[in-house]
Amino acid sequence: MIRDKGCGEIRESDIDSNLTIAGWVFRRRDHGGLIFVDLRDRSGILQVVFSPDVSKETHELAHDLRSEYVISVSGEVRRRPEGTENLNLPTGRVELYVNKLEVLNESSPLPFSMEDAGDASEALRLKHRYLDLRRPEIQKNLIVRHRTTKAIRDYLDEKGFLEIETPMLTKSTPEGARDYLVPSRMNPGHFYALPQSPQLFKQILMVSGLEKYFQIVKCFRDEDLRADRQPEFTQVDLEMSFIDRENVLELIEGMMKDLFKRVLNVELETPFQRLSFHGSAERYGNDKPDLRFGLELKDMADLVEKGSFKVFLDTIRSGGRVKAINGKGMAGISRKEIDMLIEEAKSFGAKGLAWIKVKDGFESPIAKFFPGEILKQMASRLEVEEGDLMLFVADREKVVHDVLSRMRLELGKRLNLIQHGYKFAWILDYPLLEWDEVEGRFQAMHHPFTSPIDEDIEKLFSLNISELRTPNSELSSIKAKAYDIVLNGCEIGGGSIRIHRRDVQKKMFEILGISDEEAKLKFGFLLDALEYGAPPHGGIALGLDRLVMIMVGATSIRDVIAFPKTQKAVCMMSGAPSTVEPKQLRELHIKMDVPVE
Ligand code: AMO
Ligand code: AMP
Repeated sequence: MIRDKGCGEIRESDIDSNLTIAGWVFRRRDHGGLIFVDLRDRSGILQVVFSPDVSKETHELAHDLRSEYVISVSGEVRRRPEGTENLNLPTGRVELYVNKLEVLNESSPLPFSMEDAGDASEALRLKHRYLDLRRPEIQKNLIVRHRTTKAIRDYLDEKGFLEIETPMLTKSTPEGARDYLVPSRMNPGHFYALPQSPQLFKQILMVSGLEKYFQIVKCFRDEDLRADRQPEFTQVDLEMSFIDRENVLELIEGMMKDLFKRVLNVELETPFQRLSFHGSAERYGNDKPDLRFGLELKDMADLVEKGSFKVFLDTIRSGGRVKAINGKGMAGISRKEIDMLIEEAKSFGAKGLAWIKVKDGFESPIAKFFPGEILKQMASRLEVEEGDLMLFVADREKVVHDVLSRMRLELGKRLNLIQHGYKFAWILDYPLLEWDEVEGRFQAMHHPFTSPIDEDIEKLFSLNISELRTPNSELSSIKAKAYDIVLNGCEIGGGSIRIHRRDVQKKMFEILGISDEEAKLKFGFLLDALEYGAPPHGGIALGLDRLVMIMVGATSIRDVIAFPKTQKAVCMMSGAPSTVEPKQLRELHIKMDVPVE
């Protein structure tokens, strides 16, 4: 071994010992007589001291040390003189006086300073990800990620799950994003799809009698990227046989409890709060509510109907909604700030944002349209106090919910209402189907293998489907055995109990307008498998990157992925995607029809 201990492991108990440690030169301070180096390795930082009194030769050599040189040093551990301790560091009471220095490797000048790496542009840091990854903050994230997957593996192993790998070169899957395609050289004109999830394979493993499967697995989706979306991301994917919804929820609650205790030493309260899809939309405007603060959306239709504000009355008459939230303590804001709020609401898709200040009565351009008694009832419904601001949006339901859910989050942040901690929720009772306005037909809200709830299955068989392919028909009221898990306002997982009956699956395809041939072409192998005695089964997939992002308090999943891609799906470090040799394309029988730079 080149070293006796990690830099960050040296403590007062090591005082007077002679030790060798190794690492990177993080900071170097030349105080004339003494040269101080903060030496860093994965375990932490230790201050080492070069003194001419200890060794003239090493003190001389230390002048040439530069940032990120790799060195090993030997010497005596001493207590730091009183007043020079650094209590922010676990090693801050001691230092090592060097009598031997070996430069193991030099470093070129750095593209950004390691100390202020946080200030460097993300593009620069991602290009030099090997340096960025040396930062203790990022290393901490990867350590939490490792401990998370370890805890999950242990937990699922204990519960009798088998980790089984499924193919990466496969057929298109039904998750609904665009596929990443891989051309087949052996089969000209044919393509593999990288899996959007192992959905079909895990169901087949259930038909095969494996009973409890899990996998920590890469999934690939070619979609527009955001802070919580990467083109390749990792799922904790699992599937179980002979179970129903409750078993999945219980398993995952147990897993989270175990995981948060082991990795973060946080006690989670179970069971998690449960909300119906409908209830969550009504109260928070979406199906991924951040439950760390209030400011719930309230329906105002019955009250505004008793007034004479035309915008509101027209909206209700044409089937729209009028809802409001409480801008807590915001009655004092200026006209200019109100105009900015209105602009913000418009940027979220609203036509306008009506407001009423509660400040020595009701102050608003629209107050005159409502009897005083109604204004009071509005205030009481929104739990408004003196000094608050009522904010209204009138529009189609989707717009009202979109806008107010985003306003709510904005206000939550701006008003500092978001509590620390971890708030989980299950979202249940999803509709089975959702109307696709562009295509003019129903789509599976989760995927076509998701089971309707038991009460609705018989109903499906009694309906004349061909007459019901219109929005808001009876079909939209059918509920699914699907569930999402939400943490601090982020969807961290989703799953469902699957259809295992052939007749129900056939009905589902009929509703979705998928012909027998199309179904065979897309999912033939799963449909074949379901013919041979499929057990009742279901499962869930957790987005591991998102989960770890929230556990470590990061704001982007790029911070918990060793080698992430940018918003444009580019790896700044490797340069992927890139052009390839003409020969490679010829072998694949691919001709370009775009000029390539
Ligand atoms: P779903 O499509 O909901 O379900 O995916 C499960 C979870 O994966 C995470 N996730 C992502 N994370 C980062 N980047 C992305 N592009 C991305 N897309 C999804 C989310 C999401 O909740 N086969 C089903 C699961 C099942 O039914 O068992 C599935 O893939 O946290
Ligand atoms: P107007 O009568 O158009 O000047 O609007 C009066 C107030 O109502 C303004 O504050 C507008 O921002 C607001 N407003 C207009 N349309 C809507 C709407 N669809 N929802 C909520 N407020 C609106």
